[in-house]
Amino acid sequence: MNHKQICTFITFHLCFTLAIICGVYGQRIVTIQLDGTQYYVSKMNPYASELNYFLAYQYCRSIGLQLVSFETKEKADSIAEYLKNAGYSQHDFWTSGNHLGSNMLLWMSTGLPFNATFNYMKKQEGDEPTVPSGPLPMGRRKRGNGIGNTGCIALKAHSLDWDTEDCTKLKDFICEQTRCYFYNYGSIPVSSAQG
Ligand SMILES: *[C@@H]1O[C@H](CO)[C@@H](O)[C@H](O)[C@H]1NC(C)=O
Repeated sequence: MNHKQICTFITFHLCFTLAIICGVYGQRIVTIQLDGTQYYVSKMNPYASELNYFLAYQYCRSIGLQLVSFETKEKADSIAEYLKNAGYSQHDFWTSGNHLGSNMLLWMSTGLPFNATFNYMKKQEGDEPTVPSGPLPMGRRKRGNGIGNTGCIALKAHSLDWDTEDCTKLKDFICEQTRCYFYNYGSIPVSSAQG
């Protein structure tokens, strides 16, 4: 099997498993497919209430998806356009973005910093988290100042730009299908008896 077939295989079995889980709990998960990626928009699923950032992250994981990240401008534009046309743009949506660990904005689901080639953060005054203008050496990362009120990034209603928000606020959220990764970690097989 090539990677694509493996991906399809995994997706099929994931869906099958989800179908069973959903059958058990009497829930049907509605996802959309946009530009070849599957998304779960909480607004389309009436039984899923608004959640805080952490529970939204966990909810996405529980259905085999990830809280959404915007790695490219095209993806951000496409989803914003969809939300507007589907009539969901009057709601805030959690993304996986946060600056809880440093003052640099990172996508929690991918581990990547925000893409420096475009900036959809709402313009702010004062001590705002930074979209990197280039790779930042680990040692220069400042200690997080995001813990507290405004550490998490939401896609904002109406304007559809991104803003820092209180992570404990209840909001809608968007999950996305995780890519299939085929990393070669070069793992060493060991047994628990080995030191
Ligand atoms: C950053 O965004 C640009 C424009 O959408 C895109 O072409 C590029 O691939 C992105 N970089 C990464 C690392 O995703």
